[in-house]
Amino acid sequence: MELLTTVADMVKARNAASGLLGLVPTMGYLHAGHLALVKRASEETTAVVVSIFVNPTQFGPTEDLATYPRDMEHDLALLEQESVDIVFAPSVEEMYPAGYSTYVDVEGITSRLEGKQRPEHFRGVATVVAKLFTIVRPDCSYFGQKDGQQLVVVRRLARDLNLCTEVVAVPTVREPDGLALSSRNAYLSKREREAAPVLSRALRRVEELWRGGERDGEALRREMLGMVQAEPLAELDYVSVADVATLEELSAVDRPAMASLAVRIGRVRLIDNVQLGGEEEMS
Ligand code: PAJ
Repeated sequence: MELLTTVADMVKARNAASGLLGLVPTMGYLHAGHLALVKRASEETTAVVVSIFVNPTQFGPTEDLATYPRDMEHDLALLEQESVDIVFAPSVEEMYPAGYSTYVDVEGITSRLEGKQRPEHFRGVATVVAKLFTIVRPDCSYFGQKDGQQLVVVRRLARDLNLCTEVVAVPTVREPDGLALSSRNAYLSKREREAAPVLSRALRRVEELWRGGERDGEALRREMLGMVQAEPLAELDYVSVADVATLEELSAVDRPAMASLAVRIGRVRLIDNVQLGGEEEMS
């Protein structure tokens, strides 16, 4: 496994690679969710690049950039076990040198859901992902369904800018009680950790109702709202049942949709989602 820290070295390695190249972009502090992406990439491509970069432009001024968990040594050991070919771990100065002034805005879909709560977030994500796609030129790139809106934004970015990579969605990896794996779960106290599965429980309930034929978007949103409100430690940010391509809220769920929610538990903000219909087109 090669560890590369400069754009020039990464470009050189890309030019020397033959066969299908897969890219798994991450911010490090890897867990089984990230590794599911790596495993999928290994199955489908000849060589796998994993990027580790805590991207400052996607954190808001009050968010946890400074305290975002990092453990490069452990990450490298995990990736070595997965037989990853290249780890690309540039510094902030390497990705955003002095005088950096170009940003990518995916309009419309980024002002909804997460974008409403975190105004600059997707501009940072789209910018760094566009840069990674340009540097690595992956044939296939792997993203988690866990960050459902991010996936929709990346698909749109790749399509609109002709970035020529197949964006592959990997199903969410969960704890046995349903909680989606996330680096931020480490911040939950014991009591908060016990409250956290309320997100996946609410989504499972919505999925069940939808499978039973419920197509009233408002009724599905109300169901999630009620379940979150019943958990004393949970403070709701939003619940949504939206068109999976446009992220517009649906009153009638008559097309593939994403049910999603964001909830604060103590100082930790958790998100989760499920797809309702159209799985084949999504992955
Ligand atoms: P990060 O939060 O490190 O996540 C990297 C990738 O792992 C994302 O595609 C995310 O959706 C996926 N992932 C995280 N938890 C998962 C889980 N429980 N199951 C399946 N996949 C999971 O997302 C980012 O980094 C950044 O925004 C990035 C795309 C790297 C741009 O900076």
